[in-house]
Amino acid sequence: MSRTEPILGASLDELRRTRTSVKWQAYGHEAIPVWVAEMDARPCPPVVEAVTSALGRGDTGYAWTAAYVRAATDFAKRRWDWSPDPGAAMSVPDVMSGIEALLVHNVPREAGVVLSPPCYDSFYGFVAATDRRLVKAPLGADLRLDLDALDRAFVEAGPGGAYVLCNPQNPTGTVHTADELRALARLADERRILVLSDEIHAPLVQPGTTYTPYLSLPEAARGVALMSGSKAFNLAGIKAALAFAGPDAKERLAALPEVLTHGANHLGVIAATAAYDHGGPWLDQLLGELADRRRLLGELLAQRLPDVRPVPSQATFLAWLDCRGLGVDDPAATFRRGV
Ligand SMILES: Cc1ncc(COP(=O)(O)O)c(C=O)c1O
Repeated sequence: MSRTEPILGASLDELRRTRTSVKWQAYGHEAIPVWVAEMDARPCPPVVEAVTSALGRGDTGYAWTAAYVRAATDFAKRRWDWSPDPGAAMSVPDVMSGIEALLVHNVPREAGVVLSPPCYDSFYGFVAATDRRLVKAPLGADLRLDLDALDRAFVEAGPGGAYVLCNPQNPTGTVHTADELRALARLADERRILVLSDEIHAPLVQPGTTYTPYLSLPEAARGVALMSGSKAFNLAGIKAALAFAGPDAKERLAALPEVLTHGANHLGVIAATAAYDHGGPWLDQLLGELADRRRLLGELLAQRLPDVRPVPSQATFLAWLDCRGLGVDDPAATFRRGV
């Protein structure tokens, strides 16, 4: 791919012919699938080269993750001026299994796990898988963290409970500010709640918006953050994620069984390492194209479906549509039938 060829330029025909992932298979050709968080992106060239070369060499053994940790920390320093401690990192198969294991091994059975709806729907499934009590602290009407709701939920979860923070938030694309995160961290400490910060969408924060990695704040020393190249570089199918403990949370990772580190996919590790080290220009081009797409979506909705409003977002590649103006009970079913 030349640098000027669009990353998001594939036609519907091409995507239908070339994609075998669940997104493109589950509904056949009946629908244009937009139901799962995969991008229809042309791949990041350094990733293709690294993975193809590994396959060609027969370099397909178990993963060794030191280079991945180094690449992730370098990327965090370059992008966010944050230097995670490489000595406090642990590889996990993917973000959600990392969160599940952290909950199982750190949260007592009687304590609760707090989520802030609207949040990534699989958060619910993974909390259910841990057999821990779910407690909700919805975002406020402004789609931002609601400190009062969080306080009530932390009390209900009880000391030793956990909060799964989505930083930035998916859905909504809300980018939490440093002040909001500081207030959250202080509250979590006061109520003895472990904060697990899912930062999978962080590289997809739009230029012009300041992103704060949770652990970059001194107040968040007792938290754990999870990173992955899976959303920003579209590597969801070759899983490999990293968990980083804050300076006062190393025992949270130590509580996890060492065998969990065996699950990171070797090709996923190679892909993410190449993406973090060499994918910056591709990512910047992608962010520009996403901004264009967001503008185009707004224009097309205003022209053709003025009752549907895009929810303003500062992050992710996802678009959320407020369909209340259509007055239909089940917008998904309506769209499937054809408006
Ligand atoms: C906020 C969030 N966390 C986690 C995931 C899934 O990540 P993984 O495949 O690494 O478990 C997604 C996927 O869409 C997501 O949006």
